[in-house]
Amino acid sequence: FWSVGIGPAQCNFLSCLGLQIQCYQCEEFQLNNDCSSPEFIVNCTVNVQDMCQKEVMEKSFGIMYRKSCASSAACLIASAGYQSFCSPGKVNSVCISCCNTPLCNGPRPKKRGNSAVVPRAHMITTLLLLKLALLFLYC
Ligand SMILES: *[C@@H]1O[C@H](CO)[C@@H](O)[C@H](O)[C@H]1NC(C)=O
Repeated sequence: FWSVGIGPAQCNFLSCLGLQIQCYQCEEFQLNNDCSSPEFIVNCTVNVQDMCQKEVMEKSFGIMYRKSCASSAACLIASAGYQSFCSPGKVNSVCISCCNTPLCNGPRPKKRGNSAVVPRAHMITTLLLLKLALLFLYC
């Protein structure tokens, strides 16, 4: 299977696209704290955690957030698994979203925050399928 040497590290064509990103991280839920200030920024693990994950849980008493670095596979599976629980604006809604640009799980830039995530997620899913297909071809 293709691998490319970059400096001391090896990576395949997928992980080479990512290098290292930073995400906002707050592992525990805290009421109404979306951890979007600089002290919550962490460096994600190179070539493993290639996405930022954001979980938003809406309660009658406020909104709770959990954010972290994640591998694309883990995040996309979690996101898909929670899709039926995600109804923004409603009590007890739980939404998990994934994105792959630095600090993209931070504060929303103006309006078009979420719509930009969907095509990217589709692209990544397509890449994962392609990778699987290639694995089959080469084995
Ligand atoms: C992240 O990495 C950069 C450089 O690679 C470093 O300057 C910074 O202090 C790191 N941040 C954290 C929170 O570890």
